[in-house]
Amino acid sequence: HTLPLEVTVNGRVHQLVVDPRLSVLDMLRERLSLTGTKKGCNQGACGACTVLIDGQRVNACLALAVMYDGAKITTIEGVAEGEALHPLQVAFIEHDAFQCGYCTSGQIMSGLGCISEGHASSAEEISYWMSGNICRCGAYPGIVAAVAQAAK
Ligand code: FES
Repeated sequence: HTLPLEVTVNGRVHQLVVDPRLSVLDMLRERLSLTGTKKGCNQGACGACTVLIDGQRVNACLALAVMYDGAKITTIEGVAEGEALHPLQVAFIEHDAFQCGYCTSGQIMSGLGCISEGHASSAEEISYWMSGNICRCGAYPGIVAAVAQAAK
């Protein structure tokens, strides 16, 4: 049993036929070869898979692709403008906001959501609204500083 699906990812339209059990995460990684979005826990606990769907932060591992027919999805691959990094990506570099880097795509997507939601006015507020994104290396001070800088 399969279903047709049309999604726009980073401005590019994709027409797919998918198993209704396919997650947005597996669609991105396995069907569209967009592997910047990471699979950590695959059960909604780590935030490594965070993407923006119609501007909202979503854990792509918990989202069924067929629920998002017609949606606009932004992944880490769609954040830079050509060769120019997004100011939040620059801020992550300036603040050493990663160590192993596995959570970074999700942190940046979540940070973008945090800023656009207006939840980035202080370090405390950023920490609270980014609490769904786990960093096992403990790079939180840099992550929070980077989001705060980009929110200015
Ligand atoms: Fe989706 Fe961990 S992989 S929340």
